[in-house]
Amino acid sequence: MSETVRKVGIVGIGNVGKAAASAILHENIADELYISDIDSERAKGEAWDFADSIEVTPSRTRVFEVPLEGLAQCDVILVSVTERSQIPQGSRLELLKGTAAIAYDIVPKLREAGFKGIYVIATNPCDIITYLFYHLSGLPKNQVIGTGTALDSMRLRRQISEALGGIDPRSISAYMVGEHGDSQIAAWSHVRIGGQSLDEYEAENSDRFGKLDRDKIEDTARHFGWEIHKRKGNTQFGIGNQLAFFAKSILNDARNVTPASVILEGEYGQKDVAAGVPIVLGRDGVKEILHFHLSGKEQESFNASAELIKGYIDQTLA
Ligand code: 2OP
Repeated sequence: MSETVRKVGIVGIGNVGKAAASAILHENIADELYISDIDSERAKGEAWDFADSIEVTPSRTRVFEVPLEGLAQCDVILVSVTERSQIPQGSRLELLKGTAAIAYDIVPKLREAGFKGIYVIATNPCDIITYLFYHLSGLPKNQVIGTGTALDSMRLRRQISEALGGIDPRSISAYMVGEHGDSQIAAWSHVRIGGQSLDEYEAENSDRFGKLDRDKIEDTARHFGWEIHKRKGNTQFGIGNQLAFFAKSILNDARNVTPASVILEGEYGQKDVAAGVPIVLGRDGVKEILHFHLSGKEQESFNASAELIKGYIDQTLA
C-alpha cells in the first residue's frame, strides 16, 4: 500500500509561522513539517520545541528544521517571512521593500531546488508578494495563492454577526474582495444569512436590528488587523490559522470556497494582478475562481483596488 506522506513547509518561523505550525500539529494536518528560517539556530530551537509536544497532540507529525532548499520536497510551502526590523505603522505596503527583497532571494532558490508544489503566502503586502512569487516561481497560477482577504472576510462576518445579535458567523456568507489592505471592499450584494440575502433578512427583522450601518461594519473589518496590531504589536493567530486551514484544504482536496489572493487573467475584469476573490480550493490549489456579479459601485471599487495593487506590482517588477 503506497503511503502518501503529507509534507508541509514553513518559511519564516516568526509569530505567524509559529501559529501556523502549532495549528498544523494540533489538527494533524501534516505527517512531516519542515521549518526553515534565515536564523537557522532559532528555527532548530522552534522545531525541537514543537517536537516536544508530539506525544500530547492528536498527531504524530515529525518536525524538522531544514535549509531553504530542504522545503522543495514539500507539497505545500506556507510563506510567513518578513523583514524583522520593519514594524509597519499604518500600511502593510510599508513592508514591500523588505519582503520583495526576500522573495527575490528565496523563490529562485526554491525553483532551482525543484519545488513543484503549492505556495500559500501570508507575507505582506500579500497581493503584491503573491504576484511576485508567481512571477519568479515559474509555477502555474493555480499553485500560487495568497491568504488575501480570507482573514478580512472572517472579520467582516464577525462584525455582521455582532450587528445581528450574535448569529453564528459560520452561517453568514460574506466576502471582502480586492487588496488585503485599505482599498478592500465588502461585496454587500452577495452577503447571505443562511440562504437569505441580507436585504431580505434586514427587511424581515427591521424591528430587531433596524438598518445595519454597513459602512461602519465594513470599515471596522477593513481595519481590524490594525486594532490588534496596535494592542499586541502584531497579528499572529488569525493569520497563522488561516495558513494552516489553506494547507488542510489543499492536502484534503476539500474543494471549499474561501476568499484568497489569486492571479487574475480577465476575471472580474482584471489581469496581470493578484487580488482577493472567492475561489474553490483543493489538491491542485485554485480549482476555480467564483465570479460574483458585483454591483456597479462594488465593481468600481474593486477596479480601483486592483489598479492600486498593479501599480505596486509594476514598481516591484521594474
Ligand atoms: C492581518 O491582517 C497579518 O495582514 C495580516 O492580520
